[in-house]
Amino acid sequence: MTSHLVTGIGELVTHDPRFDGPLRDAALVAQDGVVVWVGPASAQPAADARTDLGGAAVVPGFVDPHTHLVFAGDRAAEFEARMAGTPYTGGGIATTVAATRAASDDDLRRRLAALVAEARAQGTTTIEVKSGYGLDVGTEERLLRLAGEVTTETTFLGAHVVPPGTDRADYVALVTGPMLAACAPLARWADVFCEPASRVAFDGDEAREILVAARSAGLGLRVHGNQLGPGPGVQLAVELGAASVDHCTYLADADVDALAGSGTVATLLPGVEFSTRSPYPDARRLLDAGVEVALATDCNPGTCFSTSMPLMIALAVRELRMTVAEALRAATLGGAHALRRDDVGHLRLGARADLAVLDAPDHRHLAYRPGVPIARALSL
Ligand code: NIG
Ligand code: FE
Repeated sequence: MTSHLVTGIGELVTHDPRFDGPLRDAALVAQDGVVVWVGPASAQPAADARTDLGGAAVVPGFVDPHTHLVFAGDRAAEFEARMAGTPYTGGGIATTVAATRAASDDDLRRRLAALVAEARAQGTTTIEVKSGYGLDVGTEERLLRLAGEVTTETTFLGAHVVPPGTDRADYVALVTGPMLAACAPLARWADVFCEPASRVAFDGDEAREILVAARSAGLGLRVHGNQLGPGPGVQLAVELGAASVDHCTYLADADVDALAGSGTVATLLPGVEFSTRSPYPDARRLLDAGVEVALATDCNPGTCFSTSMPLMIALAVRELRMTVAEALRAATLGGAHALRRDDVGHLRLGARADLAVLDAPDHRHLAYRPGVPIARALSL
């Protein structure tokens, strides 16, 4: 049993309802990686080890509940064309699939490790990682094995798109049959890109069939929905009890009503709209209706090649008109709920002692200092 005292915390955000907001001049004690004491530095207990943060602000480590980190190659040329006016359709996913299939495990592992390190260096302590650039049984299985080396939050996304030249019905049968059988033991979640507006993604009926099969195989559900246009993704996610529906850019009133009071979190990915120059989702409409909102990077080579949760917080405040407190909550507790986790995303007693340490006097600087690397992860 090793106890670790962290002191010299100028501001401490815990999301603990015992406290009326952030604590000033605080300390925290972890025992074997779990928070066991939080309070004013003037009352700090003794411990086996001690770290003095010299007045830094501390917030819960960021929870990024949506990434596609296992891939090879990049799509800088597609990004450049998009900035010159070519719209995003999902068609470029095939480029990444070809590069990923051709890459060795070691190459993919090295790239994945670099991206995870990049995320941690910006304060992320829990990260979800999807497959979805294999789209055949062997490669999807390979990508999930690699994802499982860096996180327990692994997601089977065989239903990312229908591979070019493949019959749609045949592919749905493959995903719900042999691919699911091979991948379910390696994944915690299943996800579907439900987007009738994209010729390459799945319509509501196809998505339902895939999600029902995944649920029967024991997987929790997540959905990419309503990214490129209105569609059935949100309603399907709520109806099937998905933990999260992600993107939520084009919502009907009925979608917002369905999300409010449901157990499904709306995960917003403002880096996607930033990097695809698309309209941002209406976070205020969701928050004002009482919908739980999370923020995620969606880090992938197509729509947002960024691992930075602080950037997502800054975009949420600047572009989605969330308050800094709402954005920080969505990047921590919201992400935890999107992953149905109660041990991360906050620093209440019993939480994992996963911190984001800010080289700043308080958490507002996350949005106030965009692009400046003020956050880093500290797991005790
Ligand atoms: O979440 N929209 C679907 N999937 C990813 C993009 C994948 C890609 O373009 O490579 C997303 O935005
Ligand atoms: Fe995504």
